[in-house]
Amino acid sequence: MEILIRVMEEKDLPKVQDLWRLVNIELTYSDKYEELVKMINHNPGLCLVLENPSNREDILKKDILGAVLGGFDGRRGWIHHLAIHPSIQGKKYGTLMMDELIRIFLERNVVKLKLEVFKSNKEIIDFYKKLGWNHRTDLSTMSLTLKE
Ligand SMILES: CC(C)(COP(=O)(O)OP(=O)(O)OC[C@H]1O[C@@H](n2cnc3c(N)ncnc32)[C@H](O)[C@@H]1OP(=O)(O)O)[C@@H](O)C(=O)NCCC(=O)NCCS
Repeated sequence: MEILIRVMEEKDLPKVQDLWRLVNIELTYSDKYEELVKMINHNPGLCLVLENPSNREDILKKDILGAVLGGFDGRRGWIHHLAIHPSIQGKKYGTLMMDELIRIFLERNVVKLKLEVFKSNKEIIDFYKKLGWNHRTDLSTMSLTLKE
């Protein structure tokens, strides 16, 4: 299959949200359309989609088959919501998207990357371990909700 990884655009967001729903990624306030627009504008070139370019001529048929959000906070690069369409999972497209995002982070001199995995999705840790990530058991995540 012909595939293309490109930068996520505002017009992709409804399909990206659909993909996340399909793969059971829990959508929160931060995944509302306006919040995602904030994310992609704040992190130009770091949020990516995977699509089949043979559908490119017809915008309505164009399918988003993969998505990932990258963000840089000035110290760490963050990766959120990596998703690959179930019909093409297990064919290394997830690895390809991670490799591409890491290449972009490296190009920007980002020295360390982080991501979080819900405990309910802990089998996914093996996927990241295969890509060379460390599972940090010495850290706990804390959060403070300012708006929802
Ligand atoms: C996780 C996900 C992105 C992986 O993408 P993918 O294209 O299917 O994965 P790949 O084909 O690149 O897999 C690379 C390796 O990881 C393994 N792997 C993939 N998904 C895995 C999983 N859920 N659990 C354990 N190992 C997994 C593969 O078997 C493969 O191993 P190998 O190199 O020994 O053959 C995809 O399965 C997905 O969208 N899952 C649902 C959404 C999700 O949970 N996202 C993570 C949010 S933190």
